[in-house]
Amino acid sequence: MLRTHTCGELRRSHIGQTVTLTGWVQQNRDRGGVLWIDLRDRYGITQLVFYRSETESALLEQARSLGREFVIQASGVVVARGSQNRKNPTGEIELKVDAVTVLNASKIPPFTIEDNTDGGVELRMRYRYLDLRRPQARERLLLRDQLARQTRAYFHSQNFTEVETPVLIKPTPEGARDFVVPSRINPGEFYSLPQSPQLFKQLLMIAGFDRYFQIVKCFRDEDLRADRQPEFTQLDCEMAFVTQDDILSTFEGLIRKLFATVKGVELPEIPCMTYADAMRLYGTDKPDTRYGMQFVELNEEVKGRGFGLFDEAEWVAGFCAPGGYADYTRSQLDKLAAFLKRHKLGADGLVWAHYTVDGLPKSSVDKFYAEDSVKTWLEKCGANPGDLLLILAGPADKTRKALGELRLLIGEQLGFRDKNTFSALWVVDFPLLEWSEETGRYLAMHHPFTLPKHEDIAMLDTDPGKVRANAYDLVINGTEIGGGSLRIHDRQTQELIFKRLGLTEEEIQQQFGFLLEAFEYGAPPHGGIALGFDRLCSLFAGSDSIRDVIAFPKNNSGRDTMTDSPSTISDERLAELAISLLPKR
Ligand code: AMO
Repeated sequence: MLRTHTCGELRRSHIGQTVTLTGWVQQNRDRGGVLWIDLRDRYGITQLVFYRSETESALLEQARSLGREFVIQASGVVVARGSQNRKNPTGEIELKVDAVTVLNASKIPPFTIEDNTDGGVELRMRYRYLDLRRPQARERLLLRDQLARQTRAYFHSQNFTEVETPVLIKPTPEGARDFVVPSRINPGEFYSLPQSPQLFKQLLMIAGFDRYFQIVKCFRDEDLRADRQPEFTQLDCEMAFVTQDDILSTFEGLIRKLFATVKGVELPEIPCMTYADAMRLYGTDKPDTRYGMQFVELNEEVKGRGFGLFDEAEWVAGFCAPGGYADYTRSQLDKLAAFLKRHKLGADGLVWAHYTVDGLPKSSVDKFYAEDSVKTWLEKCGANPGDLLLILAGPADKTRKALGELRLLIGEQLGFRDKNTFSALWVVDFPLLEWSEETGRYLAMHHPFTLPKHEDIAMLDTDPGKVRANAYDLVINGTEIGGGSLRIHDRQTQELIFKRLGLTEEEIQQQFGFLLEAFEYGAPPHGGIALGFDRLCSLFAGSDSIRDVIAFPKNNSGRDTMTDSPSTISDERLAELAISLLPKR
């Protein structure tokens, strides 16, 4: 090694030792007679000191010439520091340097390499290798490494086998578009990049592997957001001869172990809630359960009093924002209404009610409702003095969604969405199918390989939207961290589902013939789950975007601005791949 120690290692006990460090110049402070350099590497920062004296003036001059981000090697003696820096673990010592070698010079970096940097996101992404030198960015990748390490250890302790599945595959439907790769040696034909290893892990169960896992890259060509990247990582898993409870408890074990070992948090047992209850109580299939504020339906209480908004609405419901909200001013309430409008949440109006300081029920629709009526709403919703009841009315689905968004906004304003509080939930019994307005037919809500609830199968013909699946999601702090299901493992049921999804015999054979055939060779009952590893890392890191926990992420247009990808390819290359492009405009 070009060094004897790292920049995070030296303590009082090293005083008097001659050592050599390597690293990057963080900053250079020149006080005339003495010059200090903060030397940084992956492990920390150590202060170097250079004194003016007859013999060392050349050295001092050399030190002066060392700019930010120069890579240097410095040797000298560890000495006690005059003024100690208690915030830095190496803050009790400094290195009195007697020799410096410049290993490489550096241009002035485009932003400061500090947590509190002056660089905007786009600039930092363009120079991601510099961004990753910042302690916070570095810590996030180290955290990711910890989580991957602990995950592997857990799965191995539970007798899972890590198996790699292919990346150039036939499309696996997961609801997004595939990225496709042309095959040069099969002109006009394409591979897809996997949206997930779904079918391969099922085939591994048929192969008898029993317990499979993989930390695996997946690719989805979909619109990007803070929690979505075109390439992302799953903790993917499949188990044979298990019930749904076996899968949930195996993953609960993983999650609780990760919280305990990596975060030092004892997560309580993870409760289950049905999809139907989640929608009814929170208006979403991924409720943030760090706080209550559950919905209460008020249809019965509010209808028939001549108030058009409520009378005409399919669904009227509200929730109580606890404590302090009774003082909410008119203008603050207007802000909430503006929020709903801005987000095109489809709610026509926001109605509020609370107890006055004298304990009298009061609402924003006093003209239509006497105190007694308002009192019944407040009581039904469990309002305490000081609470504010917020009510929305309109078409059921849209209004539920709007009230859910409002609940998140108020939760945020009241400080309930604290990043250091964790609340996990299994949402179970998802519908098997969901109606797509776009295509005018039912689509698989999870994926087409999900096993319907036995007792609901008969409804596939009569009321397909009501059929429930053995499907579940893991939700933590209102984010969908993972999802999975028990799988169909017999040909007949799988064919039936494909047909109900509108596939012709020919399409079924062409796309999934291999799977149906495999089911005929002794497929065991099986099921599994995949967790979004980037989302899990981001949750642990307390970051707002999964980009922060990915070494080289894409921006919201799916571009890597550092390498300038995607990019065009030459006409020769296109010809070789038998691809003809539309003429350039
Ligand atoms: P699903 O499609 O629910 O299930 O994906 C599992 C988890 O992967 C994460 N995820 C993403 N993370 C970042 N960027 C994306 N674009 C992205 N898309 C999904 C989410 C999600 O919960 N094969 C099934 C799993 C199974 O049935 O076993 C599957 O892929 O956290």
